[in-house]
Amino acid sequence: MKIAIGCDHAGPALKSEILAHLDEKGVEYIDLGIQEGEKADYPDKAKEVCGKVISGECDLAVLICGTGIGMSMSANKIKGIRAACCSDYFSAKYTRAHNDANVLCIGARVVGAGLAIELVDVFLETEFEGGRHQRRIDKIAAIEAES
Ligand code: RB5
Repeated sequence: MKIAIGCDHAGPALKSEILAHLDEKGVEYIDLGIQEGEKADYPDKAKEVCGKVISGECDLAVLICGTGIGMSMSANKIKGIRAACCSDYFSAKYTRAHNDANVLCIGARVVGAGLAIELVDVFLETEFEGGRHQRRIDKIAAIEAES
C-alpha cells in the first residue's frame, strides 16, 4: 500500500500530522506538498496527486484543502478518480466499501487532526466489497464516458 498526499495552503499543518501518523504506522507515501508558507490552487494539487493514482504509482490518495470540497470537485473531474470528501468515520469507511473511492478529501478547517487521522486510517484499511457495488461503479464509469 502506497499513498499520495497533497494539500493547498489551508492544509500543511494537518498534512504534517497525518504524515507523522503514517510514519508511525509504516505506511509508504509520496508527499506532493505543499509545505507551510507556500501557496497552491487546489485544482493544481488535485491533478498532481490524482495523477499518481491514475498512473498506478500509488494505490490511494489523500487531499486536503480548507473544506475538502474544492479538492473533491477537482479530483472527480479526472477520469478514473472517485473522490469522497469526508468528515465522519462512517462515510470514510463506506465510501471505500461501497463506492471503491480512491481519494479521500479532508477539510483542514472542518475537522481536527484526531478525527482526520481516524478518517485516513479507516479509509486505508477498508476494502471494496465488490459484488452488487461493482455494477454501480461501472455505471459511474459509464456516465464519465458519456460526458
Ligand atoms: C483556500 O483558501 C480555500 O478556498 C480552499 O482551501 C478550499 O477550502 C476550497 O475548497
